Amino acid sequence: MGRTVLLTGGAGFIGSHTAVQMIEAGYEVVIADDLSNSERSVVERIGEITGTIPIFYECDVAHKASLEQIFREHKIDGVVHFAGFKAVGESVEKPLAYYRNNLDTTLTLLETMGEHGVHDFVFSSSATVYGMSEDVPFTEEQPTGGCTNPYGWTKYMIEQILRDAAAADPALSVVLLRYFNPIGAHESGLIGEKPNGIPNNLMPYITQVAQGIREQLSVFGNDYPTHDGTGVRDYIHVVDLADGHVAALRYAAEHKGCEVFNLGTGNGYSVLDLVEAFREVNHVDVPYEIAPRRAGDIATCYADTQKAESVLGWKASRGVEEMCRDAWNWQKNQ
Ligand code: WQD
Repeated sequence: MGRTVLLTGGAGFIGSHTAVQMIEAGYEVVIADDLSNSERSVVERIGEITGTIPIFYECDVAHKASLEQIFREHKIDGVVHFAGFKAVGESVEKPLAYYRNNLDTTLTLLETMGEHGVHDFVFSSSATVYGMSEDVPFTEEQPTGGCTNPYGWTKYMIEQILRDAAAADPALSVVLLRYFNPIGAHESGLIGEKPNGIPNNLMPYITQVAQGIREQLSVFGNDYPTHDGTGVRDYIHVVDLADGHVAALRYAAEHKGCEVFNLGTGNGYSVLDLVEAFREVNHVDVPYEIAPRRAGDIATCYADTQKAESVLGWKASRGVEEMCRDAWNWQKNQ
């Protein structure tokens, strides 16, 4: 019997891709998801890809009785915590909902894990915790804070909660994963990013423009101090990111304490670089206009990837062309 991992939010964009890679790495996968930002059909499609349908609980991860049932019915060896609200703009409009949901799910999960002797915890954090820093490439040792929105602050606060929990409980093993910009989709085109409503993020907006769902892309500012004036980010293929979670869970099983890792490629691409790559790879047009800057955006953000490479033995392998190809392949299936 393989080790069993609980993926909260495992029907979502990053979670579903991680479920596939975890199953292929030999884990039994249990998914708990309230489907507020995902669909039940994703679970079956994970089964189509891997040949194994994950065990699924539709529930609010902050609801203790629901978690109790999961931990009672399964011997959980480790948890990867994705469940949380993640829309930057929405977090500015609804800060209390974001603090309540993102913190409550985490605290309820940690309490339930403690009551069931489960010690390995991998957390879905974000490069947004580096705030308005311009000290690129970001290393894990750099200061965090100065977040520009409540969503970012919830990630920052949860990191602190987890550091304190690990300091208080020597049995606990916590890994914080700071994602840069996950894009793309599984090569099968069966799972991918499916934002509710108008996409906040760049790549789903590009794919919807390419498909004709949206008229044109608004490029949020071309007067940044970058090579072409548009924002530079570290885009990472979601399957590479998912593999980073497999490595992190293995690390958590072998270590105690709290460790943090950047999950990025170390390469920065501007908005126009990405648009151009997408057009070239997919031979589709992506009409755009230059629009005003978006509040809270920084000019440049990309990772120093040394620590994950040397400590986790993990390095992203897929390039921006593959990210563009797989993102488009998924969109065409919608
Ligand atoms: C990327 C670049 C925009 C949309 C955020 C969160 C992060 C993570 C990913 C949450 C920027 C530009 C975007 C558009 C544009 N997790 N852009 N037109 O802001 O780097 O990171 O999302 O989901 O925690 O902070 O990602 O994709 O929104 O923007 O010009 O329609 O694309 O200005 O330079 P971001 P993004």
